[in-house]
Amino acid sequence: MSPRPTLNLDRESFLALHWQRKPLFIPGAIEHFKPPVSSHQLAGLALEEHVESRIIEHREGGWQLYHGPFSNADFKRETAWTLLVQAVDHYLPEVAALRQLVDFLPQWRTDDVMVSYAVDGGSVGPHYDNYDVFLLQGEGERLWKLGQFCDASAPLLPHEELRILSLFESQEEFLLRPGDMLYVPPGTAHWGIARGECTTFSIGFRAPRVNDMVSRWADQLLERLDPELFYRDANIESATRPGEIRPRDLERALAQVQAALDQEMDNHWFGELVTEPRYTPATDEDDLAEARALLEEGVAYVALSPESKLAWQQEAGGITVFANGDARQFPPGVLPYLIQLCGEWLLQGDLLAQALDDPGADALLNYLLEAGCIYVE
Ligand code: SIN
Ligand code: CO
Repeated sequence: MSPRPTLNLDRESFLALHWQRKPLFIPGAIEHFKPPVSSHQLAGLALEEHVESRIIEHREGGWQLYHGPFSNADFKRETAWTLLVQAVDHYLPEVAALRQLVDFLPQWRTDDVMVSYAVDGGSVGPHYDNYDVFLLQGEGERLWKLGQFCDASAPLLPHEELRILSLFESQEEFLLRPGDMLYVPPGTAHWGIARGECTTFSIGFRAPRVNDMVSRWADQLLERLDPELFYRDANIESATRPGEIRPRDLERALAQVQAALDQEMDNHWFGELVTEPRYTPATDEDDLAEARALLEEGVAYVALSPESKLAWQQEAGGITVFANGDARQFPPGVLPYLIQLCGEWLLQGDLLAQALDDPGADALLNYLLEAGCIYVE
């Protein structure tokens, strides 16, 4: 396990004034910061088939986007370019540990950590994101310009995939050096330009689309609704104008829909939605068998997989655990083990021995193993 990094930030004032509202420059956010991945390692990752990577460059003709995997020749360019590697935290535990910097925010809100490398002048262009992001400067320096608030109506340059703003109204500028951080809320235009070679870590957040929330909530509701329930209109008023749907008819329909919506529901759709993984973990039966055997023998420790999406919800009958998009219920006794795993990403020693002796907690560990949320060593 990598040591837990610390963040120089007044969390309470950040939450009250900045989160989801206003950018914040945090100079010296991490003292004596040693970037956990070098540009060389990043380039190595971008050569790999299973790693999602992009190169963005700016030429006279406009912005160009290339998708990885790349070869070493792709890194020899005349123009100002940026390499972006997605989900680096899945491959390097030291990068995953950076997510613990922001553990005062619900963990299920965090997304994967993207890392960029740029040559002098490299940039991905002025843009806005729909998500909150903490931009942590790794090696070198980058000038960040912050601009106007944008929404879906903001004019963009014509490009099939890139969403680069055609208008950027610079309002503030910050030069980030290693260990400095810039928090950018959703919708704020931002534009980072490398001053010499540099790397930037994007500790991003995820927020489900309200569209998706409505659709998942409705799906769960529909599973519970009796398909043999029909529109009823006893005591109907006599119809005088043929063909008319009268306000009273509509009121009746809406009242019946409302009654269906008011059904008691456990709302597991939310946890399932927010723990959906970006990449579905591959579960290998042999690895699982080996891990189970290790658990039975009494292993050294159980650790949270860096790519896992794990959350839980306390309910009257127990605890519902959401693991990589799936939900399962467990007895209330599993709570201390979940708190430990989600907080420290590690279960070991007496607490692990206790968990293995407790049938509920033992079932939880098996479930998390199968879901690809933990590994044992
Ligand atoms: C970058 O690292 O260059 C881009 C990060 C971002 O703007 O979100
Ligand atoms: Co951005």
